[in-house]
Amino acid sequence: MPITHYADDWQTYKMDYANPHRELEPAEREIAVVDDALGALRAAGILPSIGYDLDRFLAHRQAVRELFEIPWTAITPRLQRLIYAINAIIQPENMLAAGIFCGNTFISNAGAGVGPGACYSARQLLGVEIKPEEAERAERNVRKIDLTGTARIIAADAVEVAAAFTEPIHLLYLDADGAGGRGKGVYLDILEACYDRLPPGAVVLAHNSVNAAEKLAYYLEYVRDPAHCRASVNVVIDGEGLEVSVK
Ligand SMILES: C[S@@+](CC[C@H](N)C(=O)[O-])C[C@H]1O[C@@H](n2cnc3c(N)ncnc32)[C@H](O)[C@@H]1O
Repeated sequence: MPITHYADDWQTYKMDYANPHRELEPAEREIAVVDDALGALRAAGILPSIGYDLDRFLAHRQAVRELFEIPWTAITPRLQRLIYAINAIIQPENMLAAGIFCGNTFISNAGAGVGPGACYSARQLLGVEIKPEEAERAERNVRKIDLTGTARIIAADAVEVAAAFTEPIHLLYLDADGAGGRGKGVYLDILEACYDRLPPGAVVLAHNSVNAAEKLAYYLEYVRDPAHCRASVNVVIDGEGLEVSVK
């Protein structure tokens, strides 16, 4: 049986994709919803703890609001906070993200390791975007927040980069929509291409586990099979959803 964690208002909590910074609910409510989700991930054995620095997260959010060019994004404020918190808790030395567009979710992941929200020192935070013009804009955005070069975006096919990545991948973020007719099915191609480099305890985050559940059927079947992932939870705090799995 798949494990699903729901926020009771996930169907009515909605954002305007063109206006990602608009406050949708009081901060206490957003924090409580994300704390509940983190608690569900801890209970499933995916996270060791649920604490993260609220002020650092706010510094990260403010920097993104002021410095990033974001034409649109489906990343809700709840998900921005959840993704940042997961990275702040796991502290992945190496993070690989696939499907970047302007880089908003990339920096939600990487922002725990670089920039004003950083709470640890990362080794390599790499975003892979197949469209060169989008990769360029995302890289421009990231450079405004991370002056060190630890976080960076390259223009390439994430399946190829995942296959060629030579180091352990401690956190893999999947949000590619599959240029070349593969659709969201490309998530499984990317995961399989680097599965043997995910050490035990590595976390895999897959966006759109709710609104693209049909297209992700093979992917979800794979990560919910204990032969591949020790645990997997579908976190439904908004209409998009995030499948969180641990090897
Ligand atoms: C849904 S958008 C990502 C949204 C983004 N994460 C955000 O923060 O708003 C999907 C992106 O995946 C890219 N993409 C599609 N196939 C890809 C692949 N094989 N490798 C890398 N990027 C890919 C698309 O060009 C597109 O920019």
